[in-house]
Amino acid sequence: GDHTPRVPVRHFLKDDDLSPAEQARVLDLAEAMKKDRFGYRPFAGPQTVAVLFDKPSTRTRVSFAAGIGELGGLPLILDAGASQMGRGESIEDTARVLERQVSAIVWRTAGQERIEAMASVSSVPVVNALTDEFHPCQILADLQTVREHFGRTAGLTLAYFGDGANNMAHSYLLGGAVAGMHVRVAAPAGYHPDPAILRRAAEVAAGTGGSVTVLSDAAEAAAGADVIATDTWVSMGQDGKEQRIADLTPFQVNAELMSLAAPGAVVLHCLPAYRDLEISAEVLDGPRSLVWDQAENRLHAQKALLHWLVSASGAAGESA
Ligand code: CP
Ligand code: NVA
Repeated sequence: GDHTPRVPVRHFLKDDDLSPAEQARVLDLAEAMKKDRFGYRPFAGPQTVAVLFDKPSTRTRVSFAAGIGELGGLPLILDAGASQMGRGESIEDTARVLERQVSAIVWRTAGQERIEAMASVSSVPVVNALTDEFHPCQILADLQTVREHFGRTAGLTLAYFGDGANNMAHSYLLGGAVAGMHVRVAAPAGYHPDPAILRRAAEVAAGTGGSVTVLSDAAEAAAGADVIATDTWVSMGQDGKEQRIADLTPFQVNAELMSLAAPGAVVLHCLPAYRDLEISAEVLDGPRSLVWDQAENRLHAQKALLHWLVSASGAAGESA
């Protein structure tokens, strides 16, 4: 039999699945891995990591594939339509098969309850690569980008504009609170964050010195902010595009909004961007935009996360 002492498996399904100290550790590791990109090979063997997609992706797909390879592992990228889940095999049965073969499972899907179902039966780490509710891997990359630029996250103000009820808004609230940031979400009525997620973010912020605020006025939200962030007005799977554009237009990130932010303010967008809808081309392509560093940091942040999770779950000992 296997006499290895068992530690509980660690998943990353939403931003506060990492404590403030753990998030800081992952970001430290991401910074180290960025400086020595091919120097960490905890998945040498190679160990396989399954990366499953129920929705389209460019950045997430490429950064997990490249990152797992750079860690010495084998990325298995699987589109849902090509797996038996696409024909009705249950999430739980899929998890029971995958956990016998792979060291971690990364999944982009719709409802948060789906990834929770996967994690509930999986003995290997499960990572949320975007759900309708959260995009926590993206926020790790965003925090890495903020740290690179400002040297810290705690105490900075991040203001997010647009759809306040989508995965990015929720993950900024929760992940920003873990990082000790002051997070403002600016959105019109009808697009405000899920109240339960907002309450949880406020609770986390109370312990980190951060804060969370929801505003219906874009100018008020931009005032003095260090980081200005936005996301598409029409997320994958959403309809009513024309109505959403009409409702969200007052929340566009543009030069006028930037003039209200702190003098050294920077701009984040998880991409893909729709120029001159949620963000003006001038700002997205301008000198304050960190979006290409942000996209690159998906690679480093996710490598660090995978290494940390697998290590914390009792395998592939962390080497740094
Ligand atoms: N930002 C992001 O997750 O991009 P993809 O949808 O291309 O993966
Ligand atoms: N909110 C967007 C993020 C894309 C990376 C979506 O869910 O489509």
